[in-house]
Amino acid sequence: MLSEKMQKAINGQINAELYSSYLYVAMAMYFEASDMSGAAKWMNAQAQEELVHADKFMHYMNERDGRVKLDAIEKPPLEWKSVLDAFKAALEHERKVTSMINGLVTLAREENDHMTDNFLQWYVAEQVEEEASAGEVVRKLKLIGDSGGGRYMIDNELGQRIFNPAGGSGE
Ligand SMILES: [Fe+2]
Ligand SMILES: [Fe+2]
Repeated sequence: MLSEKMQKAINGQINAELYSSYLYVAMAMYFEASDMSGAAKWMNAQAQEELVHADKFMHYMNERDGRVKLDAIEKPPLEWKSVLDAFKAALEHERKVTSMINGLVTLAREENDHMTDNFLQWYVAEQVEEEASAGEVVRKLKLIGDSGGGRYMIDNELGQRIFNPAGGSGE
């Protein structure tokens, strides 16, 4: 069975994954309002993936006879200065999540909880993709700057993304 400390940490991570989803829905709604429906589609897919991340943790907790305790989800920001600014915030957020996952791995190792350590490795690999995919969009948006044509092209490209029910970015 999972230690109390580990359960508390995983419950904190479940809340962070649900918040990630909420944050990305807020970004998608901001993009919709900014006439960037492709970017909105990309962020909606991202939001759905975050729900899968939360669900995987909940399933694991139940499998190990832990108890999932849902907490309040913080209100996300509703506005950003620009589409670029929002994607920069998404990248920053993913970096924060990576450090939380790293913290969970450290705790699992301190507790000699090899099962949890092994389970968490999926998230360690997933965070590489998460940071890379948000970072790639940030770089492209920086490249196009204020170009309307570039903006149109990148919105088109982002709109090609489809939700992957496995919960991974699958790049
Ligand atoms: Fe996540
Ligand atoms: Fe994420």
